[in-house]
Amino acid sequence: MKKFKLLITTFVFIFGSTFVYAQSGEEIIKGRKAMFSENYQNGKKISILLRSGKKEEAKPLMKKISNNYKKLLDYFPENTKEGFKTEALPSIWENKEEFNTLMQKASNDMLKLAKAIDTTDDLKAIQKELMWSNCSACHNRFRAEH
Ligand code: HEC
Repeated sequence: MKKFKLLITTFVFIFGSTFVYAQSGEEIIKGRKAMFSENYQNGKKISILLRSGKKEEAKPLMKKISNNYKKLLDYFPENTKEGFKTEALPSIWENKEEFNTLMQKASNDMLKLAKAIDTTDDLKAIQKELMWSNCSACHNRFRAEH
């Protein structure tokens, strides 16, 4: 009887923890997708604001994108390699350091951008250099075709 109880307890424990594991994986994948989407929306807003010379309004959005990138560093744990329509490629986990370095660079560049717009004479070029080029550099290697 004691053995049986132990078996049941073990079973409940394994089943229970697998469930929690799966749950949090879903939340994490959905969470990172939401942050990337938010960054994209804010990136577009930044371009529009800068086109009409509203630099001060664009700066908080650059900080926001930078912070999201920093948070995203923690959004690619081992249990989120597949499922929930993720477009994350296995290459992320095979090259975690390179991936994290790109994420950190993208974050730093947004802060550089917030400073650079005060002195540059080519707003379009500086956005390309410090914002948009980081998206494609990472997507080319780490995000599936969509
Ligand atoms: C360091 C890597 C990296 C950088 C930098 C990066 N992305 Fe991504 N992005 C990804 C990965 C990986 C995914 C796939 C996430 C998933 O589906 O789980 C993704 C997904 C997305 C998505 C889809 C979100 C969804 O709802 O499925 C959008 C939109 C996006 N990125 C926009 C951008 C834009 C715009 C930039 C630049 C301003 C950018 N990303 C910079 C790695 C990156």
